Amino acid sequence: MKTASLTTLLASAVAVSAHRPILVAKTTNTTLPTTTVAGVEVVDTQIVRDARALISTMEPYLYRHQMRSWLFGVATINNNATLKALIDLEVHALGTLIHDLGWDMTPNSTWVTSDKRFEIDGAIGSRKFITSHPNADQWDLNRQQLVWDAISLHGTTSISEYKQEDVRTIVRSIGMDYEGEHPGIPADINAEILAEFPTDGFLQGTDDTFIWFCTSKPNATYDTWVQPWGEAFVPGYSAVGHRLFDRVHPPNTTTTS
Ligand SMILES: *[C@@H]1O[C@H](CO)[C@@H](O)[C@H](O)[C@H]1NC(C)=O
Ligand SMILES: *[C@@H]1O[C@H](CO)[C@@H](O)[C@H](O)[C@H]1NC(C)=O
Ligand SMILES: *[C@@H]1O[C@H](CO)[C@@H](O)[C@H](O)[C@H]1NC(C)=O
Ligand SMILES: *[C@@H]1O[C@H](CO)[C@@H](O)[C@H](O)[C@H]1NC(C)=O
Ligand SMILES: *[C@@H]1O[C@H](CO)[C@@H](O)[C@H](O)[C@H]1NC(C)=O
Repeated sequence: MKTASLTTLLASAVAVSAHRPILVAKTTNTTLPTTTVAGVEVVDTQIVRDARALISTMEPYLYRHQMRSWLFGVATINNNATLKALIDLEVHALGTLIHDLGWDMTPNSTWVTSDKRFEIDGAIGSRKFITSHPNADQWDLNRQQLVWDAISLHGTTSISEYKQEDVRTIVRSIGMDYEGEHPGIPADINAEILAEFPTDGFLQGTDDTFIWFCTSKPNATYDTWVQPWGEAFVPGYSAVGHRLFDRVHPPNTTTTS
């Protein structure tokens, strides 16, 4: 019965979206413990608690952004039987909760490198967090990779939209924190999430962090979607000579005005 209903859901999901990735049922069927946060029923395993504890030490605006990404996403999943059948809720929790480890401006941060774009710092950080966790044996390479892929692609929706459903849903959940309307979520839940985890300081924090990337590790921003922050706000910043375009069309070395 359960199998039949999942099969029906999968078939209808595939039928309406032939250009979408092939939908694969989640590889774990365990009934996971849950708790309620801001009116949303969320998964409550030790690794998810530890992920929440980890980000609670980051800048308050950044902690709240990652919490909202998780909660908006889970509220959407809880409201959609197709997603509920497909999404691995622990993978979704980690993919949203710790997606911005690469934003950690703490001096000598454990997560931030001097040469990698921030999504890769975050993705590598997520794998370190999972593989060093006492419950790492519950994380096969596929589950680790889903989290890794989602975090590495969370700013690149033109790719993530065509990845696995878990990856696509994690990236969409993060994107929901940059949108006004959330039609997939009951209005009262939406309001409760925003009341408990307000957006104060989020856009300013985004600007400050991206300007910091363009200033402190410009090599890791050229030809990425962060590049416009450097061009708009960082004096002397120029990607010219560092883009793939420049390998095909080398810039003139003699500057003209
Ligand atoms: C999980 O449950 C679904 C539906 O009952 C089933 O099709 C699937 O094979 C199960 N997966 C695992 C790994 O047990
Ligand atoms: C539920 O999620 C599926 C898979 O992403 C999507 O195709 C469908 O449109 C969603 N349903 C609603 C009512 O939003
Ligand atoms: C960061 O690391 C550098 C080099 O190891 C060290 O000199 C500096 O004191 C450290 N700063 C902090 C705040 O720990
Ligand atoms: C930046 O990249 C260039 C090559 O594109 C390299 O020569 C340079 O050493 C790099 N700088 C840093 C600080 O990594
Ligand atoms: C380099 O300069 C030449 C001569 O002014 C010009 O024709 C060419 O378009 C320039 N190339 C680039 C990539 O700007």
